[in-house]
Amino acid sequence: TDTSADALRTPIVAVLGHVDHGKTSLLDKIRGSAVIEGEAGAITQHIGATAVPLDVVSDMAGELVDPDDFDLPGLLFIDTPGHHSFTTLRSRGGALADIAVLVVDVNDGFQPQTLEAINILQNTQTPFIVAANKVDTVPGWNPNEDSPIKPSYDAQSDRVRGDVDDRLYSIIGELSDQGFSADMYWRVQDFQNNIGVVPVSAMTGEGVPDLLAVMMGLSQRYMKEEMAIDVDGPGVGTVLEVKEERGFGTTVDIVLYDGTIHEDDTIVVGGENKPIVTDVRALLQPRPLAEIRTESRFEQVDSVGAAAGIKVAAPDLDEAMAGAPIRVVGDRDLDAVIEEVRAEL
Ligand code: GTP
Ligand code: MG
Repeated sequence: TDTSADALRTPIVAVLGHVDHGKTSLLDKIRGSAVIEGEAGAITQHIGATAVPLDVVSDMAGELVDPDDFDLPGLLFIDTPGHHSFTTLRSRGGALADIAVLVVDVNDGFQPQTLEAINILQNTQTPFIVAANKVDTVPGWNPNEDSPIKPSYDAQSDRVRGDVDDRLYSIIGELSDQGFSADMYWRVQDFQNNIGVVPVSAMTGEGVPDLLAVMMGLSQRYMKEEMAIDVDGPGVGTVLEVKEERGFGTTVDIVLYDGTIHEDDTIVVGGENKPIVTDVRALLQPRPLAEIRTESRFEQVDSVGAAAGIKVAAPDLDEAMAGAPIRVVGDRDLDAVIEEVRAEL
């Protein structure tokens, strides 16, 4: 992990949207795995995290992304559940995000959790793009595996293109009802003030190059404006899950969103009764492209810089709570850090 002073923090991209609209499938396409198959009833029930390195992004995006144009290390994707009962997890995912992808099924359009996700993004002022997913299910659609969307869309019959347009304009209309100016992404110049709608298919991969290209552009701009972010400072994160790990006892899976965490660091973690003060025994990093929720082979590392999904092994984590803050103490006053953690609970 590059923790040099000028290292740019890896942007956090949250994927939000209504249940079954294809969030996990879209991430499966990007990571080249099939996490969805391991989910009970194919319903996501926890927040996930996956690190996608820059070279993978640029390989998938093809001519749409030139890696020389970017000094970002890659993207950290946060998967969230769309089921209505997981409001807290959606807000938590939204709160972590630098930018977001709102996934909308082109046939199903806006649904209750689509609106809920939009409210979260509005409240946190998170720039986002819309992935109009499942474009392959529009009747008569002629698939064009992994192609950028424009040539694929242009190659459809007039009737199919008309049907796709109807669906996309209805999504654009819904966004406008929510107070957003939106348009087909290829007509958008300024993605921070206009919402780009990208037709995609998690099944055929069409539009995924475009989605990645827009996300890279958006995060590069966003990170440039937030140059103050310092990955060398003491680590700050959020607990995703508290889990037993063979050989390590109770561990916490966290998203580190700021600073750096080292082995042996003293940390404060939000607990059921009071903040837990403990020392990091091991940092277990999922492999690149692995989903931390399902990863079984972790690499032990000395330190990790933001943003990253990482499993932290330390004594006394039994009362740690999902959603709680985790902070590295560093050379600061321990009591002050305990108070910060208490205030965030
Ligand atoms: P939750 O996590 O429960 O909110 O759902 P999700 O948004 O992660 O949806 P998921 O990826 O689990 O996909 C739901 C269903 O839609 C699965 O059966 C997928 O195979 C299917 N699906 C997702 N994307 C596409 C797509 O682009 N085209 C087609 N044809 N099917 C898709
Ligand atoms: Mg899912």
